[in-house]
Amino acid sequence: MIHLIAFSSDISPEYNHFFLLLVIICGTVGTGIAAFLIYCAWRYRRRDPNELPSQIANYIPVEAAWIGIPAIVFIAMFVYGVKLYFDIERPPDNAQVIYVVAKQWMWKLQHVDGTREINELHVPVGQSIELRMISQDVIHSLYVPDFRIKQDVLPGRYTTIWFRATRPGAYHLFCAEYCGTDHSHMGGWVYAMNPIDYSKWVRQGGAEGSLADTGEKLFHQFACANCHHYSGHGRGPNLVELYGRAVRLEGGGTGVADDAYLRQSILAPNARITEGFRRSIMPTFQGQLTEDQVIALIAYIKAVGARPAQSIATESYEPGTAKPAISAAQPAPSADVTKRSGGR
Ligand code: CUA
Repeated sequence: MIHLIAFSSDISPEYNHFFLLLVIICGTVGTGIAAFLIYCAWRYRRRDPNELPSQIANYIPVEAAWIGIPAIVFIAMFVYGVKLYFDIERPPDNAQVIYVVAKQWMWKLQHVDGTREINELHVPVGQSIELRMISQDVIHSLYVPDFRIKQDVLPGRYTTIWFRATRPGAYHLFCAEYCGTDHSHMGGWVYAMNPIDYSKWVRQGGAEGSLADTGEKLFHQFACANCHHYSGHGRGPNLVELYGRAVRLEGGGTGVADDAYLRQSILAPNARITEGFRRSIMPTFQGQLTEDQVIALIAYIKAVGARPAQSIATESYEPGTAKPAISAAQPAPSADVTKRSGGR
């Protein structure tokens, strides 16, 4: 009974209502039909071996009722289900992304600030959390019953699920897809903390650089910068401000530079070529990078999208302190020239 009252995530009350509604409707219909069947079997039992029942053909009101009423009831259930499904499947825009890599037999969770956790996830209450998940080996499934969320975690493809915890506490995390010998031990805990405790926890972490910092190191370690110049004149596409944008592809069509696109471009570079670039220049990094490393590289590409190197350089010449000194010494037009050349 406690579980019916003390909800621990946003969607759990609605999820429970829906489930209850299904049980009530299906239970009522099921028992109703069974009772009617038993009643009719008794009421219309054969009393005389030669008895002939009166034949009724096309009794329209009854036929309309038994087609119309169930259709309305079950379509309503479907619509409610679809609404709930979209609520569960679509994370809100302000959701904080946490990357999850599943492997036999553990959950690796990475916060964008670089904090890593194994089989544990700390989140603040009231914040929408989007889990972006991939498997390093076989199919797993992330399952937090208290939050009413469950999603398969697949090799080779990102899947997502989101939740917003509403009550501080520790909630069991399971793997819900048989994935080998230690499947039953592949679990852990989600700790929902109130925001003050959470920020304390974050400060204790001592993360060794953000996810994007790790990505930047890998970017240089694997010599990506040799081709992906910031100048835009490299042999590979410029990655600045790429994340989330539409990309025109060789041979027509477009793609959106999201996580799935970037992952494919790193591991199977010839699958989709950016318009204006040649095929087979970039080697595949399949087998050389772990999923964690791919995620870090994507985080880096996302970060250079948010703050392109050039706009930072320009901005640093803009503040009011430097400007009056220049314009005092020189007439206004040349001050503009100075600013522009300084930005380069
Ligand atoms: Cu992983 Cu079962």
